[in-house]
Amino acid sequence: MSKIAAYQKCINPACGATFDCMQTLFECPQCGDLLDICYEWDKTEVPAKLSDFAKRWPNRLNRLDFSGVWRFRELLNFCPDEKKISVGEGQTILQQACGLAAELGMNPHNLFLQYEGMNPSGSFKDNGMTAAFSHAAMVKAVSSACASTGNTSAAMALYAKACGLKATVFIGAGKIAYGKLSQAMDYGAYTIQIQGDFDDCMRQVQDVCRKMNIYLVNSLNPFRLEGQKTIMYRILEGLNWQIPDWIIAPGGNLGNSSSFGKAFWELKALGLIDRVPRLAIINAAGANTLTELVNDHKLRWNNSHIDNAKINAYYGKLDAAGYKPHTIASAIEISRPVNLKKCLRALDVCNGIVRSVTDAEILDAKAQIGKFGLGCEPASAATIAGLKYLLADGTIGKDERIACVLTGHVLKDPDATVNYHSKKQGPFANAPVQAPNDLDKIIALMKA
Ligand code: F0G
Repeated sequence: MSKIAAYQKCINPACGATFDCMQTLFECPQCGDLLDICYEWDKTEVPAKLSDFAKRWPNRLNRLDFSGVWRFRELLNFCPDEKKISVGEGQTILQQACGLAAELGMNPHNLFLQYEGMNPSGSFKDNGMTAAFSHAAMVKAVSSACASTGNTSAAMALYAKACGLKATVFIGAGKIAYGKLSQAMDYGAYTIQIQGDFDDCMRQVQDVCRKMNIYLVNSLNPFRLEGQKTIMYRILEGLNWQIPDWIIAPGGNLGNSSSFGKAFWELKALGLIDRVPRLAIINAAGANTLTELVNDHKLRWNNSHIDNAKINAYYGKLDAAGYKPHTIASAIEISRPVNLKKCLRALDVCNGIVRSVTDAEILDAKAQIGKFGLGCEPASAATIAGLKYLLADGTIGKDERIACVLTGHVLKDPDATVNYHSKKQGPFANAPVQAPNDLDKIIALMKA
């Protein structure tokens, strides 16, 4: 293990305050802005080439080499090995999706799906939780909390159990798919259903954590985002260290997109890659704050000088209208993404773009992904729904190489799947047929 040389830093250039990693913070105590984890790379022995990381993979008896997150530990070097918590996260594989690509009119060899549903709690969140809880162990936290549309709470509950912390979940009443709620309850989390939506829960949990000194594991936690960088490393690994042309990810609270941008600019700065892929972030049309701010209001990173007045005016309008986001993709039903500013930076780094897709488009795309044998929950399918637009308007060429992040497992939200198929909500519906309890009639039906 190389020397640890990491610190926390406020992203606001007018502030730029720095803090030791032993401090538990989810906002800059001086100006309230977001925090980054920064590294003094020269003090860390980073492998000379990315393929060196993959050599650890077959070493299954070493829990850190086996972890799809900690295999890349020099690139998130904030925690001593003995404090690292792992339950085998990140055993996810980049799947080549030839059938789906052909159906979308693309070069069949160039579409890849990074299936994060294979994680222990069934979503990409485990990549972040292993990092956040390792930090929690470092600072000897005893109690953790999060606001969640479901997957964060499932992952938090699982990791809190793994390292003996208390876990409290804040969820919007009626706003969470049952697959996810069942996990939080089953893993013993204290679950508080608030009469409100995710944005309300997010506000409440921050105040609770400030007042009660509880360890917050939402993506405001900069250590959590360090773990999520590894999703990009594994995509590169799956492509034998070649850089795809595009990464496509759903946008909710914008933690993923923020960490993807950081992953690529760090790799570039380290000389481990020579170019960064472009990033497409796909919102649900019913929760499209990022799309509106970036595409309509032209909000930009602007070399870290973000126009806060634009953001405040936009949120002021949402408040005045009593606006509440609404989408079948409940995981991304968020109108005040806490990582907005870091996401603007990622868009800048990756020459990124933002699009929105309707619920019907999400459900159709989800069924198309599913019919080739690799299911996902609705939010994840926003990627393919978005890709269809980007192919149609020529933003993405048919021969470009694309990796879509399928963020959550198909079983997270079975209601959405069963309703789509059984109520024939779209052209890809595969409804069950009714049969009498009679062999001849069943066989006749099967021959029809
Ligand atoms: N996909 C899934 C399956 C998610 O659960 C989430 C976020 C996202 C995409 C959006 O990712 O926030 O990084 O932009 N779910 C959070 C939760 C909000 O509470 O589980 P993001």
